[in-house]
Amino acid sequence: MKRIGLIGFGTVGSGVYERLNQSKEEIHQVLGEKVEVAAILVKDRQKKRTVHVDALVTTNWEQFLEAGPYDLVFEAIGGIEPALTYTKYWLEKGIPVITANKKLVAEKGEYLEKAAQVNSTYYGYEAAVAGGIPIINALKGTLATTAISRVSGILNGTTNYMLTEMIEKNRSFADVLIEAQQLGYAEADPTDDLEGYDAWYKIRILSRLCFGYWPQAEDFSKKGVSAMMDWHVEVGERIGFKIKLIAEAWLGDKNVAGRVSPAFLTQTEPLTSVRGVTNGISLEGNSINQLLFIGPGAGKEATANSMVEDLIFHERTKNFKKAEGRNASYGNETFTHSFVF
Ligand code: NAP
Ligand code: HSE
Repeated sequence: MKRIGLIGFGTVGSGVYERLNQSKEEIHQVLGEKVEVAAILVKDRQKKRTVHVDALVTTNWEQFLEAGPYDLVFEAIGGIEPALTYTKYWLEKGIPVITANKKLVAEKGEYLEKAAQVNSTYYGYEAAVAGGIPIINALKGTLATTAISRVSGILNGTTNYMLTEMIEKNRSFADVLIEAQQLGYAEADPTDDLEGYDAWYKIRILSRLCFGYWPQAEDFSKKGVSAMMDWHVEVGERIGFKIKLIAEAWLGDKNVAGRVSPAFLTQTEPLTSVRGVTNGISLEGNSINQLLFIGPGAGKEATANSMVEDLIFHERTKNFKKAEGRNASYGNETFTHSFVF
């Protein structure tokens, strides 16, 4: 029996709990062992929970520790602290941690990956980028030695959903934002979605995997949809362009650089067809030309699916050496789409 500790029981954490329960038999078959959530750490004792839980639910860290030992911990609370302290605690004990927390991974991933390596364990962050698209473990696994010159994509589901609804259904910004929050797509503080931070964290994480090292935050510029004006959308539509929040990174002469910005896309650019909460990622390189990944970018089921599959990925590959670096090739700033703001 594999005992699981779950930190956070909001949109993502409750989704992980449900997914583990629904897939009990398959997971048992694949791993040769059952998994069971032993305890859940939350913040607000008074909150009404809609998902039925058999495990201990506590707001007390000591009580959560006492309910261990755990074979693996899922972190789904978000932000830097206390997520960093908790993640460090488990990794230093050699316990694998799987997270959906893109902010923590982008800001502290280098340190936490090292902590995992030194303690012969795993820090998994498949769910931190592009919700349900299995891009992280594809880059670590079947694409581990493929040279990549450029990565670009639509990495924020909330704003892509908002832009789609506003343009196609003529709905207001405020209305669609409230809906995206109700649907569980938006961050606890939606400023992260609207000002481009969320996509900025994600493109830096993708860069680490595409180019083999953690890039410097200052080499990535950032503008969110909050920089857009109504006339941008109107003019774009009139001249046949689609406006999207694009994140991109490339290996330049000196180092990896990138940006997040609203951009006008031509009708022939593949990312133009990515609508709603869907995300799209394009990888370019000499041997692959262009690989496209398209799928759900946020939401409970898709994100929980990625976290659970990350557990399976770890269990199935834990005896392999994980790729450290990558045979990168030079790319440049030339866009396949039309122009950024
Ligand atoms: P959420 O619905 O706001 O849930 C957050 C959970 O964390 C809640 O259960 C909350 O407890 C708990 N929590 C917060 N601070 C805590 C603390 N100090 N100690 C213990 N528990 C604490 O957020 P979410 O949407 O699930 O997102 C969680 C993480 O997943 C974030 O990093 C987010 O960026 C990432 N993510 C989200 C999505 C998505 O579609 N929502 C997709 C991919 C990645 P209470 O329940 O008691 O309030
Ligand atoms: N708020 C994020 C988004 C959640 O909308 O893409 C998924 O990471």
